[in-house]
Amino acid sequence: MEAESTNQSDGVLVFDEVISRAGTGALGLDWRRFGMAPDVTPLWLADMAFRTPLPIRQALEERIEHGIIGYSVPTEDYYDSLGGWFERRHGWVVDPRGAVQTRGVVHALHLALESLTSPGAGVIIQPPVYQPFFEAVQLTGRRLLACPLLEADGAWEIDFDQFEAAARRAEAFILCSPHNPIGRVWRRDELERLAEICLRHGVMIISDEIHMDFVYPGAAHTVTASLAPEVADITLTCTAPSKTFNLAGLQLANIFAANSTWRQRLIKQYALQGLSQHPALSLVACQAAYSGANDAWVDQLVAYLDGNLNLISQMVSNQMPGVSLVRHGGTYFAWLDFRQLLANKTGQTTLEAQPRPDGPVPAWRTKLDQQVLGEAKLWLSDGASYGAEGAGFKRLNAAAPRPVIADAMRRLAAAVQAKSA
Ligand SMILES: Cc1ncc(COP(=O)(O)O)c(C=O)c1O
Repeated sequence: MEAESTNQSDGVLVFDEVISRAGTGALGLDWRRFGMAPDVTPLWLADMAFRTPLPIRQALEERIEHGIIGYSVPTEDYYDSLGGWFERRHGWVVDPRGAVQTRGVVHALHLALESLTSPGAGVIIQPPVYQPFFEAVQLTGRRLLACPLLEADGAWEIDFDQFEAAARRAEAFILCSPHNPIGRVWRRDELERLAEICLRHGVMIISDEIHMDFVYPGAAHTVTASLAPEVADITLTCTAPSKTFNLAGLQLANIFAANSTWRQRLIKQYALQGLSQHPALSLVACQAAYSGANDAWVDQLVAYLDGNLNLISQMVSNQMPGVSLVRHGGTYFAWLDFRQLLANKTGQTTLEAQPRPDGPVPAWRTKLDQQVLGEAKLWLSDGASYGAEGAGFKRLNAAAPRPVIADAMRRLAAAVQAKSA
């Protein structure tokens, strides 16, 4: 199948096209539910403002045209496509027929904790980190063992001593690789050290690698399970086409485990939730996504996102006194540091959250929202929602057309300059 050209006939990049999602039920636009003003630019949620590549849309159309959307299971072609992607793009040779399908990665986290750990088991996470990690541990009645990342001058590192202390009390570790929201792409030596500690203390690694395809020049993603066979034996690798190909609404993930008992337990847990087959159109889209027809599109997408993040980085350093951004090599997020801007004249930061009003407005709405983001009419994710360590930061999703990003950054620069004047 032909890949769609990323240049439209007028020479404008496909990714530059601004596409309205009004009326599509897009969660990212649901300002009412989140207590936002209707005129803000939403750059908070982790889905992209780009169309899914053409070969996937065509595969979906063909299936709709076929006309029968019955109960479905992965086909041989599905598995070949899946395995081909990881081998071709990540050098990871894995048996795709061993993959367990779930309704997304978050679903898989819940299934894994419920079926592979004991009630009350300690589970390590590394805040600031993707909020559903906290929820998965708490909602399944497991115990959070937070090992916060250490920050110094915008660099974030793992505290291995603290990690080892937690590992002594843990049954599982949910790793975010690359790390959302910071964007760190963990180096091989860091992953090896984590894995070695987990091996020594019998800790299962639940490796969420959903952002694995968003890695920029200078960084390289290592699949945790590819480190060594003994690491694969204790690892559950969580993958999904949803981020890379903008298919989050189809809710499908592929979970890999070398341990066949674990795979059976995951499938049983899925059945206990009343689920058996998988959504037919999600399988079609996933097969088409990984087929090889979209590799050039993904390369161009990653280059485009790199350009967006460079633009943001330049505007922050040239036009936003008191704001800083360190690029960490992965994900499409800019992890903006507003702490200096928030520092008052005595150098103290004023990061207190507003009290939670009745209703759905989250408690983490801070002064920054009113005085800077409110002025700039921007809707970003609040750093404190990823754990207390994220207070004073905002996560911006840069996977939007460059004109939208440039305009948002101009407004942010004006609001920052007004606040710091
Ligand atoms: C680290 C991470 N894991 C999982 C997800 C969500 O995955 P899914 O929609 O497959 O549940 C996200 C979405 O932002 C994410 O950033």
